[in-house]
Amino acid sequence: MDPNVRLITSVDAMRNAARALRAGGRTLALVPTMGALHAGHLSLVRRARSEADAVAVSIFVNPTQFGPGEDYTSYPRHIERDLELLQPFQVAAVFAPDAAAMYPPGFDAFVEPGALAQKFEGVARPGHFRGVATVVVKLFHIVQPDVACFGQKDFQQAVIVRRLIENLNVGVRLAVGPIVRESDGVAMSSRHAHLSAEDRAAARVLYQSLRRAHQCFEAGETRGEAIVEEMRAVLSSELRVKPDYAVPVDPLRLEPVERVTPGTVALVAAHVGPTRLIDNLILAPAGTSDEERLRLAFGKEM
Ligand code: PAJ
Repeated sequence: MDPNVRLITSVDAMRNAARALRAGGRTLALVPTMGALHAGHLSLVRRARSEADAVAVSIFVNPTQFGPGEDYTSYPRHIERDLELLQPFQVAAVFAPDAAAMYPPGFDAFVEPGALAQKFEGVARPGHFRGVATVVVKLFHIVQPDVACFGQKDFQQAVIVRRLIENLNVGVRLAVGPIVRESDGVAMSSRHAHLSAEDRAAARVLYQSLRRAHQCFEAGETRGEAIVEEMRAVLSSELRVKPDYAVPVDPLRLEPVERVTPGTVALVAAHVGPTRLIDNLILAPAGTSDEERLRLAFGKEM
């Protein structure tokens, strides 16, 4: 392992390492992950390098954000490979605690996110965002980063984290990075490890439904309902895919929109084989960069 990468498993050791990294006014960025790293995660690490003097990456498959019957036990875990993938990025610390370190016996204080967490993924996965919010706030307290990098891939998660930061006065700046896609357009996901070749091929239809939404928008369609119909039609072309939701929403409140405008976000979620996949696309005129789209959706520097 690169001698510069420090693997840290205890909360106290991470707290001390982070304090040392922030010493003398140096800035620290945190990239929270559940590991099984892919190019999407690595793009956030690169972003983090550009945002701060030092970068910490957390790798923790967080049990509290998985529901009963979800893939907590089968979630891919490849810590050695993850550390190799991180080597070129001059990461100062990798925090990979075990579940007992983060949730010792007697743990029962949670962070409860509000209405944003009751929609979409929150309906499909009750309690999911309570687990996400709890672990993210714990990581913020342990590492006390200046900036935290999250992916647009989990759009609802990023919006909820932003709300947490604002509502709980967390002194962390949020940076959101664009979605990294495979060559066929499918958003990179650690959960692709669960998919057969046939299911993986079928998963393309999620991105295709988002492209269709975008084409409609470019062609001047502004009715949200009409775009929903178009997205559903694309999804129904693939029998292996069981759609959950496909809808343009406003990026602040995550409410379905009657009228689509630049910055509206098309969200899609579907069951594909044994797993559930999500994706999204920020609608904007053709030629708008990913960064500009993120600014349209989040309203300021992202
Ligand atoms: P995980 O799914 O490992 O994702 C870690 C970060 O990588 C998230 O911010 C996610 O949005 C981002 N990401 C995932 N796929 C991406 C892609 N294709 N392109 C760009 N970014 C991508 O999200 C979680 O873990 C957890 O909920 C966590 C925040 C770590 C809390 O446990």
